[in-house]
Amino acid sequence: MSDTVEQVKQRLSILDVVSSYVKLERAGQNMRAKCPFHAERTPSFFVSPERGTYHCFGCDKGGDIFSFVQDIEGIDFKGALKILAERAGVPLRYSKREKGDDRDRLHEIMEAAAIFYASRLTKEAHEYLQKRGLSENTIGAFRLGYAGDGWGDACDYLQARKFSEKELLDAGISKRGERGIADKFRNRIMFPIADSAGRIIAFSGRTFGEKAHPDAPKYLNSPETTLFKKSHILYGFDRAKHAMRKHNFAILVEGQMDLLLSHETGFANTIAVSGTACTEEHARLLKRMTDNLVIALDADEAGVKAAGRAARVALREGLHVKVAALPRGSDPADMIAGKGKDAWRAIVRDSKDVITFFLNAIEERAKDAERFRRSVESAVLPFLNDVRSPLEREHYMREIAGRLHVSESAVAEATARLPRESAMENFSTNTSGVHVRQLPKRAEEAYAILVWQKSVSKPAIDCDQYEEALEQAVGRDMFNDLKSIPKDRLEALRFKVEEHHRNTEAALQKSVKSLLEALLRTRHSEELKNITQKLAMAEECGDEGLTQQLLKQSKDLTKCIAELGNVV
Ligand code: UTP
Ligand code: MN
Repeated sequence: MSDTVEQVKQRLSILDVVSSYVKLERAGQNMRAKCPFHAERTPSFFVSPERGTYHCFGCDKGGDIFSFVQDIEGIDFKGALKILAERAGVPLRYSKREKGDDRDRLHEIMEAAAIFYASRLTKEAHEYLQKRGLSENTIGAFRLGYAGDGWGDACDYLQARKFSEKELLDAGISKRGERGIADKFRNRIMFPIADSAGRIIAFSGRTFGEKAHPDAPKYLNSPETTLFKKSHILYGFDRAKHAMRKHNFAILVEGQMDLLLSHETGFANTIAVSGTACTEEHARLLKRMTDNLVIALDADEAGVKAAGRAARVALREGLHVKVAALPRGSDPADMIAGKGKDAWRAIVRDSKDVITFFLNAIEERAKDAERFRRSVESAVLPFLNDVRSPLEREHYMREIAGRLHVSESAVAEATARLPRESAMENFSTNTSGVHVRQLPKRAEEAYAILVWQKSVSKPAIDCDQYEEALEQAVGRDMFNDLKSIPKDRLEALRFKVEEHHRNTEAALQKSVKSLLEALLRTRHSEELKNITQKLAMAEECGDEGLTQQLLKQSKDLTKCIAELGNVV
C-alpha cells in the first residue's frame, strides 16, 4: 500500500490534481486560487508545487494530493487512493487479507450482492420500472435489481463465493432465522446505495410481486453497518457530485424513485435522503460540492415540515436554500410521471427562496393578518438565526417586514428574542483534537521564515546568523517550542510567510530585522515585569542587597528596551 502511495505521489503533481478542480494563478513561487472548499471572492487558497501541498487561509484546510481528493470528492483515503492511482496509471494491489481490513471484505460482499440482485431483475420488475418512467440507461446505471421469493438465494450465492455466515450477517444481507440464516430482502426491487466513491455499502428494497407480504413496509433498508451510516449517506451522491459542482446547485428529494426520475429528466445533480432526516453531515457533504440547494421533498404535511428542518440545517452550513413548490399531496416521482419532464423542470426553475416559500405557504393557510403574523414569528423567524451571511439576513428581514407591514427593527428585535438553540450553535470541530500551547504569532512567523529560507537554494538572509539571533530573541525554551510546531501548522505558516514576503529580498531582510527586534523587546519587557515584581517583594522583606541587584538589572533592561525602540 505505502508503495502505491509513493508511486502515485511521484507520478502526479499537486498542480495536476488541483488544477482539474480549480483555476490556479501564479503567486510568486506558489500558485493561488479561490478556495474550492468555501465560498470566497478573493483567493486565499495556496498551492506549493515544490512541496506538493496546499493550504487555505480562509477555511484552514490543507494537506497533500490525497487529502485534497478526499475532501473535494467527499470520500475516505482508500477512495482517494483509488481515484489517484487510476489517474496515475499505478495498479492497485490489495495484499491478501490485510489485518483489520473487514471493511474491504464488506465492500466485496456488497459488490457481489449488487451483482447478484441485478442479475435477478425479473421481466415483471423491469417492466414495472419502465412503466414508472425509468429508461434502460437509468436502470443500468443505478444497478437496480430484484430479490426474489426464496428464503436463502442471496445467502447461497454469496456463500458459494466464500463469504462466511458471519460476514453475511455483518453486511446486513442475511438475518438470523429459526433455521440458520435467511435473506433479509425478499420480494423486493433492490436499489443499491453507494458511498461517495461509488462503492456499494447498503441496499434499499421496495416491495414488489404477488408474493410480497401485504403488511411489509414499502421500503426496507439495510441496517447500519461499519460502512453504512444513514446520517452520512445521500442516495445518488456518487453519481451527482460532478453535476452539482458544474451547475452549482443540488436538488434534494426524498425517495429513490424521486431521485431516479429527476435524473431521468436531466437533473443529474439530484440526491435523496432516502428515509431519514437531512443531517448536518449531509449538508456538509453538499456544501463541498455546491453553494446552492433546492429542496423538493414530498408536498404533504410531513414533507413540508421535513423541508423546514432540512432548510435550517443547510442554512447553518452556509448553503443558499430554495424550496420547490410541488402540487399539494404529490412527490417529484408522481409529478414527473403525471405531468412530464418539462413540468418538473419548471418547478425546479421556479423554486422560491426558503423564506419566501414559507411566507407564501403560511399566508395561504392563515385565516387573518394576526394569525399570519404569529405563525411567521414562530415558524419563519427562527430561520434568520441560521442564516450565516449578515447581508443575506438583512435582506430576509426586509422581506419579512414588508410582508407583515412592520418595521425591520421590529423583525430584528423579535428575532433576537427567540430562544437560542445552543446545542447546534456551540458545535465546533477541532480537527486535530490536540491542544497546542499558543505561541506568539510573531515568533511563529519568524520561525517559519527560518524554515523557509533554509529550504531555498539562494536564501535572502544569512540563515545561521538569523537562527542564532532568533533563539536569542525568544529564549531557548520558546525556541524549542517553535521547533516542535506540528507539521501541518508549520506548513500553513510557511504558505503565509512565502506569500507575505514574496516580493523583494530587501523587504524580507527588513521585516526579519524588525521581527527580531519586536521579539526581543517583548522578551525584555516580560523580564522587566518579572524583575519589578521581585523588586517589590525584596523591598517588602527589607533585603537591601537583593533590592540593589534587581534595581540595577531593571535599569539595564530599561535601557536595552529604550534603545531597541529607537531603532524601529
Ligand atoms: P414514500 O412513502 O413517499 O414512497 O417514501 P413513495 O415515494 O410513495 O414510493 P414509490 O414511489 O411508490 O416507490 C419515500 C422514501 O422514504 C423511504 C424510502 O427511501 C422512500 O423512497 N421509506 C419509505 C422508507 O425508508 N421506508 C418505508 O417504509 C417507506
Ligand atoms: Mn414519495
